[in-house]
Amino acid sequence: MQTTALERKQERNEQLKERLLQLKEERNAIILAHYYQRDEIQEVADFRGDSFLLAQKAAQTDADTIVFCGVHFMGESAKILAPDKTVIIPDERAGCPMADMVNVDGLRELKKQHPNAAVVTYINSSADVKAETDICCTSANAVKVIQSVDADEIIWVPDKNLGDYVSKFTDKKMIIWEGYCNTHDMLTVKDVEQMKIKHPQAQFVVHPECRPEVLELADFVGSTTAIIKYCRESDHQEFIVGTEDGTGYQLRNDSPEKTFHFATKYLVCPNMKVNNLKKLVKCLETMGPEIYVPKPVADKARLSLERMLQVTA
Ligand code: 13P
Ligand code: SF4
Repeated sequence: MQTTALERKQERNEQLKERLLQLKEERNAIILAHYYQRDEIQEVADFRGDSFLLAQKAAQTDADTIVFCGVHFMGESAKILAPDKTVIIPDERAGCPMADMVNVDGLRELKKQHPNAAVVTYINSSADVKAETDICCTSANAVKVIQSVDADEIIWVPDKNLGDYVSKFTDKKMIIWEGYCNTHDMLTVKDVEQMKIKHPQAQFVVHPECRPEVLELADFVGSTTAIIKYCRESDHQEFIVGTEDGTGYQLRNDSPEKTFHFATKYLVCPNMKVNNLKKLVKCLETMGPEIYVPKPVADKARLSLERMLQVTA
């Protein structure tokens, strides 16, 4: 009997998974995967999570090797929080365009203009920028971080949409950088309105990296984990989802009886999808690409990440 392409792919994946288990043991490795990774990676991860949970897991692990399946700044944060571990990633081309929208020179200039402001930096940023930062945050604890900061003025980098969202929960003056996530920022009011007409019973849940006018249409606004929790615990059966499409893996696992419609087919982060199972196995085989952060930068950046971890999500 002839095998189909799908069967051949499944067979290859089974072989890759077997090899992965061997390598994980040999390298004493832990696999961390962001919710936006391909299903085939989320399936084999030791921990799936959002940026906050994965940073916590990296800081706490006893493993010798951390394989970070996400984008580059996530691997960097893991290395900063666990400097004695080897941190490897499946593909070094997995960057985050939003993180690249702010640089040290621009941030230093802003600090000069606002000498009394505290710098709050979204974790989606480079190690160099984190080293210039008072405290980092993720979308899961951004509001609490802003409220925890002892300053009346905040320099907020790099996400203008998340900055606009958190500014509604504080009286502090916020100086907001003009960065954005290419994927979330693509979602428009028109997309959501069309989906609401198609699925009138569905609740609209959305990530705060989306535009303010899109958030206004939402039944629920929250980080990736908050969206997953909300959908799991809600009595509603149908949802329009305004975040990256990989989140569907956890949503469907948690609530197989519920229906999830992604708000557009464009809610796919191409950077997250650069990683795949084959590259994951290969990186454990070759122990690279490895993440390096120069010690002086890491030592400064660590303070801002450790402060972030103290503010619960
Ligand atoms: P969270 O993991 O904090 O929800 O962030 C979303 C994101 O865009 C990660 O790159
Ligand atoms: Fe960056 Fe957006 Fe992709 Fe997250 S989803 S990695 S913020 S481009």
